[in-house]
Amino acid sequence: MNSKKLAAEHAVQFIKSGMIVGLGTGSTAHFAIHAIGARVQAGLTIQAIATSEQSEALARELEIPIVSFQEVNEIDLTIDGADEVDSDLNVIKGGGGALLREKIVASASRELIIIVDESKVVSQLGAFPLPIEVVPFGIEMTMKKLAALLECPLTVRQSGNKPFVTDNEHYIVDCHTGSIADAGKLTRELNMIPGVVENGLFIGMAAKVIVGYMDGAVREL
Ligand code: 5RP
Repeated sequence: MNSKKLAAEHAVQFIKSGMIVGLGTGSTAHFAIHAIGARVQAGLTIQAIATSEQSEALARELEIPIVSFQEVNEIDLTIDGADEVDSDLNVIKGGGGALLREKIVASASRELIIIVDESKVVSQLGAFPLPIEVVPFGIEMTMKKLAALLECPLTVRQSGNKPFVTDNEHYIVDCHTGSIADAGKLTRELNMIPGVVENGLFIGMAAKVIVGYMDGAVREL
């Protein structure tokens, strides 16, 4: 069985009727949304908030009731994918470009469960290029400040021959750090730069990481 699907289906078992559930973005989160849809069809009563327009559209197709932040004070449980996770449950996200909404939803959640296949587990974060969501205005200046802080190659994410535009009308700068020694310090420093909206480091936010393995095993980190 697909190891992303294994992790997703394991995590969805933690959802109980009455919960407000955050829906992640990406291929692993899509497996989770499908599994949630199947449970809703079988009688589970939940309401959900999505981290991207793509995930919201899928949830609506599967008849998962969607609510907005105007209607809820807190999210009980969010299930989302990741690009890298370390043994302290720190995470890089944003490979799908949804990191801002993902971080807003995660920070409003009592519990964040990260679901990944085994290829995402690393001893140190940073081999995956760190995504940073930036405002298009003044991006050249913002990138100079990022380059001075990070001292690594930076690329503006492209879609075809144009910059990739997020659901929030921002751009993504991918930072090829190679490795990140102090992720907590870096996330604070990045978010101090004018023009940076948010970065893909999710530090101390995940309560559980569920890993699916090629041999069919599922383990929690
Ligand atoms: C989107 C994300 C995704 O969760 C992350 O990129 C993992 O994606 P996938 O499950 O497709 O490997 O952070 O912004």
